Amino acid sequence: MITDHDVIVLGAGLAGMRAALEAARAGADVAIVTKVHPIRSHSSAAQGGINAAIGETDSWESHAFDTVKGSDYLADQDAVEVMCQEAPRDIIEFEHMGVIFYRAPDGRLGTRAFGGASQARTYFVGDITGQALLVTLYDQILKAGVKVYEEWYATALHMEDGECRGLVALEMVTGELHLLRSKAVIVGAGGLGRLYEPSTNALICTGDGYALAYRAGAPLMDMEMVQYHPTTLAGSGFLMTEAARGEGAYLLNSLGERFMKRYAPNKMELAARDVTSRAEATEIAEGRGIDGNVLLDLRHLGPDVILRKLPQIHEMALDYLSIDMIEDPVPVRPGMHYQMGGIKTDVDGATVVPGLYAAGEVACVSVHGGNRLGANSLLDTIVFGRRSGKVAADYAKNTPASTGGEVLLRNEQERLRELLSRPYTGETNAGLRLELAMMMDKLVGLYRDEAGLREALDKLEGFKKRYQTIAVGDKGRVFNQALTFSLELGYLLDCGETIIRSAIVRTESRGAHTRTDFPERNDAEWLKHILLTCRGEEEPELSYIPVTITRWQPEVRTY
Ligand code: FUM
Repeated sequence: MITDHDVIVLGAGLAGMRAALEAARAGADVAIVTKVHPIRSHSSAAQGGINAAIGETDSWESHAFDTVKGSDYLADQDAVEVMCQEAPRDIIEFEHMGVIFYRAPDGRLGTRAFGGASQARTYFVGDITGQALLVTLYDQILKAGVKVYEEWYATALHMEDGECRGLVALEMVTGELHLLRSKAVIVGAGGLGRLYEPSTNALICTGDGYALAYRAGAPLMDMEMVQYHPTTLAGSGFLMTEAARGEGAYLLNSLGERFMKRYAPNKMELAARDVTSRAEATEIAEGRGIDGNVLLDLRHLGPDVILRKLPQIHEMALDYLSIDMIEDPVPVRPGMHYQMGGIKTDVDGATVVPGLYAAGEVACVSVHGGNRLGANSLLDTIVFGRRSGKVAADYAKNTPASTGGEVLLRNEQERLRELLSRPYTGETNAGLRLELAMMMDKLVGLYRDEAGLREALDKLEGFKKRYQTIAVGDKGRVFNQALTFSLELGYLLDCGETIIRSAIVRTESRGAHTRTDFPERNDAEWLKHILLTCRGEEEPELSYIPVTITRWQPEVRTY
């Protein structure tokens, strides 16, 4: 099938759906392509809240400064200013759409504290904030007439004369490949967390959007900046929201000490995530952990706060570890959570590829720099989703319809046929994927050094070769997840390569990128972004652009 739309959005999380809504409001014929039902998107796992400076004692400048400091001065300050200035109106708009945010006893919207913030400015719905925003937005896109290709899996972007003009997607229920042409494409396909094991990310977070845009010529920026969240549940790696600490929970070591007093005496458990994760790792490495974990202690908050404001994590700890956090502390450890880098865009989501836009985690605007503050990611999705939707729709108005794409469709059909017909060699997708993810955690995780990163690159080259030999066990057409998982592994390998190569290049420690062989931040040489551009089978092209500083000169970063 070949179908035409004005704007196609890849991904139905908050960024994707917010972009689609705005493009539809601007008069475009909009379609979303998503590999899962929209309300199963990973935005639904965002727990703790969304930031905005709304209260009388707060200001967007304070929010922006905290964000820039949190980023370890790698964020572009003009982009941070846009996000923080526009945050209040976007959150209020969601309230008007129907999100029932927590209200303080005086009836006003209430906040909770979050890490790295100088004020409590996180608005929330219990510990299911992402889910609340997502279901509300889903209603809105249906009302706006956005077409949703649900459980359709994108295999390639359609490029015509250097412009992005749609995509090819696999209809998972039939196994048919289709060409969906458009005048603009917005990639809002979320993160790449499954490149790491363990991770807080859903199984669907496989870096599809990064790899598709990268292969189409859009550079990936600051990919070395991978965030480890300080409180992921022992064993499973599930997220135990930062909101627990925002509500007052303690982090304890095996001696029962609130060890953050040694690392962040002013902010304690509410230091920025990179600082807190490294503190935990140090406690564990120095023998003050408990079976490779530290403890998250909520007992003093009492059952009322826990059950009213943190019911989901209470239930998760009970279900997965049989621990009732009202009675006992919960073992947690740092785990991969978020990719700060991504497809380089401007503040309107535009990439260097005409017709190609990106928003949300997959994009790098850059508002998070070296380390994202908790509750700024939901904000990023709705501000930059909205902006990219409007600009993509305007672009589509002045762009003629595409007439090509059949060759790409045939090539993709052939590529999938070849993959399905490969003989079994003993190499499996699942085995290779796990090896890759464990390698990334070990060698490209919280701490890195030259030798480990070089080893990681060698291993990755080997994985890429082995990937060419994996066979797809299921030869059927209907919901062939063996096939889509194999395609995902290809995306993950591209993402892994760009992370490792950027991490080798950045010979300093900044934000989440900690080089034990270069332990200091080095502003003289490294106050710049690293970009990688795909060159097919060749090594990617490396380039740099300076960080935009508007009003906050880099300072020593302490909490
Ligand atoms: O801890 C959390 O609730 C996560 C929030 C975020 O990553 O922004």
